[in-house]
Amino acid sequence: MTAPTVSGAAPGAPSDKQKPTGRAAIGAKTLRTDRWWVAPLLTAAGLTAWVLYALIRTATQKYYVVPEHGYLTPFSSPCLSMSCEEAAAHFGRPFPEFPPLVPFGIVVLPFLLGFRLTCYYYRKAYYRAFWLSPPACAVSEPHKKYSGETRFPLVIQNAHRYFFYAAVLISVINTYDAIVAFHGDEGFQAGLGNLILVGNVVMLWAYTASCHSCRHIAGGRLRNFSKHPVRYWFWTQISKLNTRHMQLAWITLGTLAFTDAYIALVDADVISDLRFIN
Ligand code: FES
Repeated sequence: MTAPTVSGAAPGAPSDKQKPTGRAAIGAKTLRTDRWWVAPLLTAAGLTAWVLYALIRTATQKYYVVPEHGYLTPFSSPCLSMSCEEAAAHFGRPFPEFPPLVPFGIVVLPFLLGFRLTCYYYRKAYYRAFWLSPPACAVSEPHKKYSGETRFPLVIQNAHRYFFYAAVLISVINTYDAIVAFHGDEGFQAGLGNLILVGNVVMLWAYTASCHSCRHIAGGRLRNFSKHPVRYWFWTQISKLNTRHMQLAWITLGTLAFTDAYIALVDADVISDLRFIN
């Protein structure tokens, strides 16, 4: 008679070490011979640079609005604190003064961060670039366990669609900022900063509309499209944008930083705004 195993497992049953993992038993970290590490490295560098820039810019609480041209950086919008200059307070100043280093846009920051951090593309980007889980296709990861997005904190990723609703609202606010910048004391006005603000807003809408949750809201949970031609049309258009979601994710990081930098440089009198009208 076979003696019972120490672990109590039935004789002949695979031990923990032998249990199937669903993965090929390959000893090498990877068999890939291409430069698979370039993409996660560039991703890590790009995201780190952007976050550092945003942190420094918002913590300074300076050069965020150009009152004479009506430009307000999206990093400080909506500006709702008594610390905000009047020209930046498009929606009033219901909050008291913020302490130093607190970004003026802190009220919406958790929602914006929630939207980007739970985004399907950014998940892939930072899982690979920072978490190395895995760093690339067909490259083994350093982690022993994998519980997916079923436990805290990653279970929060499932709230992405709710962050999407908040992001739509914030895009409306950014659009309002871009529109009111055309109205000056002399009436209609336009400069290069207006074009930059509008360009940023267009890209923000494109990124938001290309969201996977938006696509599902438009065309999901339908048994057939033939009875829902309007939703089908929206779903088709969003699907086209959706194929560019990764590019839009990066483009909007670029347009946000560029818009902010342009406004900061104009406000600090480092450069002058190119004026077209008034
Ligand atoms: S999937 Fe990227 S924003 Fe929704």
